[in-house]
Amino acid sequence: MEIFNTKKSLRNFLDSKSENVKVGFVPTMGALHEGHLSLVRCCRNQNEVVVVSIFVNPTQFNDKEDLANYPRTLDKDLELLRQEHVDVVFCPSVEEMYPEPDTRTFDLGGLDTTMEGAFRPGHFNGVVQIVTKLFEVVLPHRAYFGEKDFQQLTIIRYIVNQLNIPVQIVPCPIVREPDGLAMSSRNMLLGANERQAAPLISQVLFKAKDLKNSLSVSELKKWVVDQIDANPYLQTEYFEIVDDVKLQPVNSWEDPVAKVGCIAVRAGKIRLIDNIRF
Ligand code: PAJ
Repeated sequence: MEIFNTKKSLRNFLDSKSENVKVGFVPTMGALHEGHLSLVRCCRNQNEVVVVSIFVNPTQFNDKEDLANYPRTLDKDLELLRQEHVDVVFCPSVEEMYPEPDTRTFDLGGLDTTMEGAFRPGHFNGVVQIVTKLFEVVLPHRAYFGEKDFQQLTIIRYIVNQLNIPVQIVPCPIVREPDGLAMSSRNMLLGANERQAAPLISQVLFKAKDLKNSLSVSELKKWVVDQIDANPYLQTEYFEIVDDVKLQPVNSWEDPVAKVGCIAVRAGKIRLIDNIRF
């Protein structure tokens, strides 16, 4: 497994490969878990060269404390990636990715004004800044993103279309802990009480899917929030049922669009997100 810290060394290596070779790419911020590894495995199955990046991107953190506390476990990450037969790991410094401040502001077609975008101003602009920079260096044929971050996936698809970036975006299903909690690098930061309470989020989402036939959209939304907020360690920030392309709120089950219920919950100082298809 090759490990590169500079764009130039990564590019030199990839340029040495034959043009017919398909390059698959999995961008991450490290602190890897089975969710990330599921993307890596899918990428490994579909491409000759697998590139994984590990970079905690400062421009997507709207909260300084969140950035400072973000878990960093590079040695363990590299070991996990070696076991998955990854070809290349790219772990650049902040200076390497941002020799100059990135002043680009992307028009994300309003996809960034709801849900995560509303609660984390500037977050998705930062995500798009780093993902476009990484795409420019890696030039992947395929790139893998988790449905765990559903709004991020939707925004990446949108911007790749808008900018005509020649990459195929491959979505990968949410990987969960045995108790249902969606895996996340931030789960390791949860306090004991919050960790114990957190599986309620997915339990409520799964039950909500069953209740779809007996409640209206607005009744179901209220039900979900009430169930979660009844737990003293959890506080819902939002629960929205949206279509899966424009992320517009769905008002009726009769709406002929694919529906996704997206939730963000505060568990102590940690924000958790999850979603479910209806
Ligand atoms: P990070 O949170 O490290 O996630 C990297 C990728 O792993 C994302 O596509 C995310 O959706 C996916 N992922 C995380 N947990 C998952 C789970 N439980 N099941 C399935 N997939 C999961 O998302 C980012 O990093 C950053 O925003 C990034 C795209 C790397 C840009 O900085």
